[in-house]
Amino acid sequence: MSLLIHKQLCLIVTGGIAAYKAPELVRRLRDAGAVVKVVMTAAAREFVQPLTFQAVSGQPVHGDLLDPAAEAAMGHIELARWADLVLIAPASADFLARLAAGLADDLATTLCLATAAPILVAPAMNRVMWEHPATQANLVTLRTRGVQAVGPDSGAQACGETGPGRLAELPAIVAAAEHWFSGGELAGVRLLITAGPTHEAIDPVRIITNRSSGKMGYAMALAALAAGASVTLVSGPTALSPPTGSVIKRVTTAAEMYSAVMGAVIEADIFIACAAVADYQVAAPAPHKMKKQGRELTLTLIPTRDILQAVAARPHPPFTVGFAAETENLIQHARAKLTGKGLNLVAANLVGQSGTGFDSDENELHVVWDEGEKQLGRASKDALARRLISVIAEHYRAKHPARA
Ligand code: PMT
Repeated sequence: MSLLIHKQLCLIVTGGIAAYKAPELVRRLRDAGAVVKVVMTAAAREFVQPLTFQAVSGQPVHGDLLDPAAEAAMGHIELARWADLVLIAPASADFLARLAAGLADDLATTLCLATAAPILVAPAMNRVMWEHPATQANLVTLRTRGVQAVGPDSGAQACGETGPGRLAELPAIVAAAEHWFSGGELAGVRLLITAGPTHEAIDPVRIITNRSSGKMGYAMALAALAAGASVTLVSGPTALSPPTGSVIKRVTTAAEMYSAVMGAVIEADIFIACAAVADYQVAAPAPHKMKKQGRELTLTLIPTRDILQAVAARPHPPFTVGFAAETENLIQHARAKLTGKGLNLVAANLVGQSGTGFDSDENELHVVWDEGEKQLGRASKDALARRLISVIAEHYRAKHPARA
């Protein structure tokens, strides 16, 4: 059963070419059971006729703050109180800026300022506008106020460019709206998770890798989805199917994993590094299969970039969780990683023994943070992932009470 049944959604449509997708979004939200009232900015009305939204929503469409008929009954306050969720799709760069500045010079911005309902934005704009520091700073401001974002996706744009800025796919927007009502510990929170090993080429047919199967990271993704989070999974090569509902980004090398994470982290509230990333790569992989020489062979290895450390060192890092895979002095090494990499939490597991750790169905985890630690015990990776997600949610909510 959809979590949107009988939920009252105020959809604000702002000006942009992606506005043509908004009537279909209304239809899908209604199919999921929501009651949808549409507010259009003046710019949006240049792209789509209000009558279209009236037809698909079955409700009058709102546009003017100073509409005497509606405002006689304080229409904008009524709408602000009516909404269980305010969804802005597409959200233009201009509208995000006006929202961040707290403007109230039209019905849409006034409604956002007057509502106590959560606000979800689905940005859509040209990729350069999306990547502009002003837009990114506006998003940071909005996030600190509890506004959540879904998308944008990356791909071909109406302007002919390719890159991030496309309106998220409509099912993803509907799913993000649903998450607000899931009531899970991580409802509305966006997680970025790495999983699996990396492969570092020696030559076109040989690699350096490790025994990670990806099971722990995929279990984390599943547990996070069950807790109501939206999940992007950056996965090294594994034989596993990504959990339904997650966004999967497949990579092979540590460098590719670094790029995929850095490209997605701006959209993450929580980052969990479960992947067993190679610490070294071959300095100069051979372009052709290396021939057996019958003598000693020396490979020169150079360090890969530490993804977890780079995420934690960002100016506005997400809540950052690392794993520590150790063969001895588990807690001591985990604490060194916690402080050394500037993390919020570390989940430590003993590896190199049979039955737990790498490539097994069970694991045993011990979580450490600045002022404490918790033993999560030995269990299946699925069960442990649920326990660990619960601990992460508790610490995340304590750090960001405004987003609870
Ligand atoms: O995949 P499975 O078979 O289910 O096994 C699960 C697991 C044992 C791989 C998992 O539970 C685990 O411990 N993952 C982390 C493995 C690891 O690389 O640990 P580390 O102690 O070497 O690294 C510490 C942390 O830094 C990790 O969060 C790691 O993802 C991160 N790191 C390391 C190197 C690097 N270049 N970038 C990183 O982000």
